[in-house]
Amino acid sequence: MDTHSQLTRLGLFDARVPRYTSYPTAPHFGGSVRHGQFSEWIEAIPAGSAISLYLHVPFCRRLCWFCACRTQGTQTTDPVIAYVQTLKQEIALLKQHLAPGVTLARLHWGGGTPTMIPPDLIRDLADTIFAVAPLAADGEFSVEIDPNEVDAPRLDALAAAGMNRASIGVQDFDPEIQRTIGRDQSYELTRSVADMIRSRGVHSLNADILYGLPHQTAQRIADSVQKLLTLSPDRVALYGYAHVPWMSRRQQMIPSDAMPKPEERLRLFDVARRLFTWGGYAEIGIDHFARPNDSMAIAQATGHLRRNFQGYTDDTAPVLIGLGASSISRFPQGYAQNASGTSDHTKAIRAGQFSTHRGHAFAGEDLLRARIIEALMCDFSVSRAELLRDFATTPARLDDLFAAAKAEFGSFFEVTADGAAIPPAGRPLTRMIARMFDEYDHARARHSAAV
Ligand SMILES: C[S@@+](CC[C@H](N)C(=O)[O-])C[C@H]1O[C@@H](n2cnc3c(N)ncnc32)[C@H](O)[C@@H]1O
Ligand code: SF4
Repeated sequence: MDTHSQLTRLGLFDARVPRYTSYPTAPHFGGSVRHGQFSEWIEAIPAGSAISLYLHVPFCRRLCWFCACRTQGTQTTDPVIAYVQTLKQEIALLKQHLAPGVTLARLHWGGGTPTMIPPDLIRDLADTIFAVAPLAADGEFSVEIDPNEVDAPRLDALAAAGMNRASIGVQDFDPEIQRTIGRDQSYELTRSVADMIRSRGVHSLNADILYGLPHQTAQRIADSVQKLLTLSPDRVALYGYAHVPWMSRRQQMIPSDAMPKPEERLRLFDVARRLFTWGGYAEIGIDHFARPNDSMAIAQATGHLRRNFQGYTDDTAPVLIGLGASSISRFPQGYAQNASGTSDHTKAIRAGQFSTHRGHAFAGEDLLRARIIEALMCDFSVSRAELLRDFATTPARLDDLFAAAKAEFGSFFEVTADGAAIPPAGRPLTRMIARMFDEYDHARARHSAAV
């Protein structure tokens, strides 16, 4: 059986498998983690340590039809201005629980569209954060920027506030695809925003593009990637478009019959992948590319690549605190998620407490399984010696865990004396193989085919 038939047989082309930006994944969080637990975990952060902060801005001026992100449309900045006041109160609350001397390894503003914040409030918000925890000497302050929703004053404010990495949404440059996904954005506009960002001394530029979009063909994705390469991004996320109209109602505007077939998606990814690697980019995990001197490529080469809620990261800080509605925090003890709706979130913060409404405290084999899943997603391999060194487990237990994945994925999952690995031919199955180690996902052992 050829590789393509084997992948089909194993269910790749119709699989809906988590992206494993956390383990357990967010749908398996429960209601037992509340603001009291969240406050305790913050208080346990040692004085003087470096942590990371994520700040969520769930507003957009236009709602792109393809987008599955949690965000709400608004034509005016009034709700954004009110929301920034809530964020400032949330930061003041954080300060009450945070030990002195904590610095930020990473600060990321995501959304939604953080650039909906007016310039004076961008500076005010950044100042408020840095007064509580300044950026560490080698720290990174990154912001997601919609090229359609930014101008010189807002970029000036972000650069003055210390932004040193910008991430722009591109998706695809083809006009028919853009019309179909409800996201017009000319190449000229994208190029001019990239130039404006760099001319302000922000030298690290990320771009997001998508494969598997309606009407996308090998030729069209090749054109889009080549256009993107002319902007020389330092890092690219090449996400598979998730068409989930039953969850994201905006996507009902996109005709399902214009979607490429599952097999075609794999080909679209491969066309883009070849162009990036040919252009000198290092392939990072399952969906990122980076210039060899970018910190993510270096992290991969030195074994420091990690997963967090944004996908791949070179951030190795043990704590990530999420501020704003729906944000998720990660601690050595577990995960905590804020209320999803802005009104519930705001209500809690105004009442003087965090809005934490769900999460997960690590127990049992959670951390062992989380490490195996993260290692497979980042490095396509996992070291037996490291697992035995870092967790209270046994060689026999690891043999059992690996054997279950081996039975399911055969030659696409290699078990050796050193550990386990996913060979190049099995990489399209990485998320499915990772799922074999997910104790909470009961759909994981659906396939019984021996390969
Ligand atoms: C939270 S959005 C913020 C981007 C920013 N607001 C912009 O429009 O440029 C971050 C990225 O998520 C990705 N994304 C959104 N919806 C998606 C979907 N349905 N499938 C896959 N990726 C998606 C897009 O690539 C997008 O650039
Ligand atoms: S892609 Fe960006 S601008 Fe468009 S709806 Fe999603 S978050 Fe908002």
